[in-house]
Amino acid sequence: MKIFISRDIPILGIELLRKEGHDVTVYQVDRPLTQPELMENAKQHDALLCMFSDKIDKVFLNECKHLKVISQYAVGYDNIDIAEATRLRIPVGYTPDVLSEATADVAFLLMLAASRKAFHLHKTIARGEWTFFRPKANLGIELKCKTLGIFGLGRIGVEMAKRCKGAYQMNILYCNRSRNPAAEELLLAHKVEFNELLEQSDVLSVHCSLNEATKGIFNKNAFHNMKRTAIFINTARGLVHNEKDLIDALNERVIWGAGLDVTDPEPMKTTNPLLSMENVAVLPHIGSSTIETRNAMARLSAENIIHGLRGVRFPNVVNPEIYSC
Ligand code: DGY
Repeated sequence: MKIFISRDIPILGIELLRKEGHDVTVYQVDRPLTQPELMENAKQHDALLCMFSDKIDKVFLNECKHLKVISQYAVGYDNIDIAEATRLRIPVGYTPDVLSEATADVAFLLMLAASRKAFHLHKTIARGEWTFFRPKANLGIELKCKTLGIFGLGRIGVEMAKRCKGAYQMNILYCNRSRNPAAEELLLAHKVEFNELLEQSDVLSVHCSLNEATKGIFNKNAFHNMKRTAIFINTARGLVHNEKDLIDALNERVIWGAGLDVTDPEPMKTTNPLLSMENVAVLPHIGSSTIETRNAMARLSAENIIHGLRGVRFPNVVNPEIYSC
């Protein structure tokens, strides 16, 4: 079978596919494909291994309904119209679990960086502004025994909570559609309503998926309900927060700081005010960027293609219902 991979991924994934006897084409140019380019290539292949930056919408899916499997190289799949893929009976694979720890590490890093103004202070040294000791300058805030609020306590949220509990004995609150009894037992986490999460969190870390219910949920109103000393962390999707409202909240000191691995839009403009704020740390969507995790994602996304092409139901399929009728 012919497989198209929309960006160059770690070689072990490509080798797995070739070992299975498949004919693999990897897009080699260092930029995402436009949708017409992606369509043109997908039309000539039986399976597609794609990225979260590829737009797999209704139009794409109907042009490429011959695809036997789509395998997303990410845990989030908000770029794919899953309902339409299901209607067209195309299985969609994703890469959960393997990136949870790496992504939680980035959330934890951003929390620390924002709480101690680390990225800002690094820049001041480069500007030659490290002069002498000032007892009241560069003051951060401590995290010990503070309250961590997790919005979306799934696999990544649990890893973030474990880190915060272990390092700083933080109290864990979470807001989810359903309860997570395992996390409640392991982390003594308490499920609360959204408003309580806003009101009680010292650090509020976002780990939900992007959907109609979560899009823009962290808006002006939400930030105004948070503590003035709170730090907002988002390593999920930029569209979960309203970026203008976040900038206003930080400028007006409605909240204390923020750490973002995801922004709206991506890439962030160099003129974005968030980049010059003391209590803000921004990274360029690197949650899963470690050698180990990207290798694991390559393996999993290749395995999803292999199973999908064999026509068997595979563990990491987003829409298993296509197999039930
Ligand atoms: C994901 O997996 O959804 C990340 O955002 C990209 O690695």
